[in-house]
Amino acid sequence: MMDSKKAKLTLANGTTIDLPIIEGSLGKPAIDISALSENGYVTYDPGFMSTASCDSSITFIDGEKSILLHRGYPIEQLAEQCDFLDVSYLLLNGELPNESEKNAYVGEIKKHYLLHDQLNSVFKGFRRDAHPMAVMAAVVASKSAFYFDEMNVYNRNHRRLSANRLIAKVPSIAAWSYLYNLGRPFNYPRNDLGYAANFLNMLFSSPTQAYHLNPILVRAFERILILHADHEQNASTSTVRLVGSSGANPFACIAAGIASLWGPAHGGANEATLKMLQEIKNENRINEYIERAKDKTDSFRLMGFGHRVYRNKDPRAEIMRKTCHEVLSELGLENDSIFKLAMKLEKIALEDEYFVEKKLYPNVDFYSGIVMRALGIPNSMFTAVFALARTAGWIAHWNEMFLDDNLKIGRPRQIYKGKTQRNVPSGRNVSKY
Ligand code: CMC
Repeated sequence: MMDSKKAKLTLANGTTIDLPIIEGSLGKPAIDISALSENGYVTYDPGFMSTASCDSSITFIDGEKSILLHRGYPIEQLAEQCDFLDVSYLLLNGELPNESEKNAYVGEIKKHYLLHDQLNSVFKGFRRDAHPMAVMAAVVASKSAFYFDEMNVYNRNHRRLSANRLIAKVPSIAAWSYLYNLGRPFNYPRNDLGYAANFLNMLFSSPTQAYHLNPILVRAFERILILHADHEQNASTSTVRLVGSSGANPFACIAAGIASLWGPAHGGANEATLKMLQEIKNENRINEYIERAKDKTDSFRLMGFGHRVYRNKDPRAEIMRKTCHEVLSELGLENDSIFKLAMKLEKIALEDEYFVEKKLYPNVDFYSGIVMRALGIPNSMFTAVFALARTAGWIAHWNEMFLDDNLKIGRPRQIYKGKTQRNVPSGRNVSKY
């Protein structure tokens, strides 16, 4: 039962509990079940399908209406009218920066661009063929061994410093993870370039060869960063919050977020989408893969399709689709075989009853992989780029968590289904040393 202010829950023994209803500024109301455990019950919600883990003022998604807002601003307007540092400032501070705030913020980020020189040795401990995400997660975590000054997470200024350091340094860590893989020298960041251009330059230039920055391609990359900057309480952001709730070092929290993002059901989907397209290779084989995706005995899923929250179009996918056309036309790649295959696959899936009925639309990662490939970014770096962008969202959520007066260490409950209490059999041999 529910009235406008509270829900009533009647337990098996007849006890009725009043549960308060919490209303946000947008979206579904929530039933506050925190009093349940006092009455001897816990709730069960695998995958948190119906559970809000916190309140937040950063991002709002309406998956039915294809709406994504950051601090109230629609993603379409942010992608069109802002750059990535505008968006990262907005996520962290709640408002877009005015001109002087923007200049100060950009200056602050650039001040922290350089990595500690000793980090070279950390990179050199890895196998050359290690995946950039594995290297990135470990190197970001290793930064907690470099920065232990001004690390009181309950101090607003210390949190701000950590946020700026992370946003400034993650591009170099991502680029170096790849350069190490290739055996190429590490390129230093350049303060005369914007955030997106600086990353592309680190990735593609070499001491012997300058990288030509094409404004259309740089803008397309900037858009990838903006579209991936935040997406409320997804797996990696929830991971960052959970790790951070213990008061852990922020670099360790972001490293945990990177590890969570790497999975193919989450950030690994852009890499998995391109791999899938390369594997399908020929338009004649699309139907075979569509049938496999529908077959419940086959674990294969159509990568780049479906979303936990969007049960309608992913608004980011629409922007990425347009960007994809702009980039391919700029590069004269409209006839690129992978792109044509992707467009055909998209059309067939969108007309297929299974995908229509389950409301499975292409998500942002269906197109972002194609754009990144056209920009020359290798498959193995796709998720690293996602991590670079999402660092802004992660750190904004991490910061917001400490502004919450109700902050508690995250500690889900469980339904235990193991053995009931029993005794260890007597007469076991115990080794002495
Ligand atoms: N191909 C085939 N069937 C699918 C797919 C797919 N890509 N996605 C969902 N389904 C089916 C699923 O089998 C289930 O069918 P049934 O009801 O018969 O059991 C139904 O649709 C609902 O799926 P679900 O697994 O309950 O949905 P979920 O919210 O748990 O999963 C998802 C969401 C994104 C993990 C899933 O759609 C998926 O694995 N997609 C492919 C991977 C992908 O593209 N991930 C990127 C997400 S966007 C980036 C980000 O924001 O992280």
